[in-house]
Amino acid sequence: MQSEAISFSSSQTVFYFEGKQEELLSLIGKRQVVVLTDENVRRAFPDYFKGIPTIVLPSGEDSKSMATVSRVIAELISLGINRDALLIGWGGGVITDIAGFVAGIYKRGIACAFVPTTVLAMVDAAVGGKNGVNAGDYKNMLGLVRQPEFIFYDVGLLSSLPDIEWVNGFAEIIKHACIADREMFDRLECHELSEIKTNRELSMSVIRKNALLKAGFVQQDEFESGSRKQLNFGHTLGHALEKRQHLKHGFAVAIGMAFACRLSEKKLGFKDSDRVLALLEKYGLPVHTLVDIPQTMALLQADKKRHGDTVHYVLLENIGKAGIRPLAVAELEKNLEAWI
Ligand SMILES: NC(=O)c1ccc[n+]([C@@H]2O[C@H](COP(=O)([O-])OP(=O)(O)OC[C@H]3O[C@@H](n4cnc5c(N)ncnc54)[C@H](O)[C@@H]3O)[C@@H](O)[C@H]2O)c1
Repeated sequence: MQSEAISFSSSQTVFYFEGKQEELLSLIGKRQVVVLTDENVRRAFPDYFKGIPTIVLPSGEDSKSMATVSRVIAELISLGINRDALLIGWGGGVITDIAGFVAGIYKRGIACAFVPTTVLAMVDAAVGGKNGVNAGDYKNMLGLVRQPEFIFYDVGLLSSLPDIEWVNGFAEIIKHACIADREMFDRLECHELSEIKTNRELSMSVIRKNALLKAGFVQQDEFESGSRKQLNFGHTLGHALEKRQHLKHGFAVAIGMAFACRLSEKKLGFKDSDRVLALLEKYGLPVHTLVDIPQTMALLQADKKRHGDTVHYVLLENIGKAGIRPLAVAELEKNLEAWI
């Protein structure tokens, strides 16, 4: 197993790559541990955390709510979980988000670690310490920034992942390539998803590179006052679509990236929209949808990146280089109308 310790402003996270179940169990040692997972992950690997208290949630985005947080906290209390315990979020981004949030507030904060089981969680959701739940239609409105003690990568856990979830995860991988890694963009153009999925070494190398790329952004700007905002490429419109149209996170972000490419042409003279759209489609992602403008604008107005009448929009200057520009809400609406 390879490990890499990454320091953030007030703590460090150890990334364990190419880990196996036995290594995880020895890492936990004799600490009091409780696992949070969802029904699909538990069903796929019933013995992975055998003998360790496990709270199992229904799968899906609807679980990311304060009602779930209250339910998990009640279970932690009834299990007698102490302040020095470790809460392990074992699942996709929904589970890592809930686990990180609950760990941050239970008894004023207990340690947490993640064992991500989707591509999306491995390269994105589990990395960076942002943990949140939704408030009604508003994505990730409630949350905190707090780093996990470790993130454990066992690509064997992806063996049961449905094809659509692989596609979903590649939206964030393509996003990383677009904003910060031209070489990875070129490399993704040369491969097929079916090839990456079936080649353990290749999938691990893509996942590792992307997890560390995101960690690098977070190291520079943990509390998102500057460069970390670039990771929101595709997310402003994406978040609105995800909630409104019940799209998977990656699918919504892919559409958001396609729209942001068109905006980038106008605002920054970006010339490679067609290449970005072609790459998204090559990996099975959508690049357009019908948008209900009034509903979408209402959600965009509540976006965390809005300042007064402007939204700080992440655009592309070139493949591998993002830029953030203030965009008047009215201009955004006009461009959205022209795009649909
Ligand atoms: N905190 C962050 O920085 C951050 C970043 C990106 C996304 N997110 C959040 O992550 C969430 C999306 O994450 P996701 O796409 O992983 O969704 P998810 O957690 O809902 O997982 C997707 C589906 O795959 C199933 N699943 C998970 N692992 C499996 C496995 N190994 N085998 C079989 N089935 C499995 C789940 O049960 C679920 O049905 C969104 O809520 C998004 O807001 C957070």
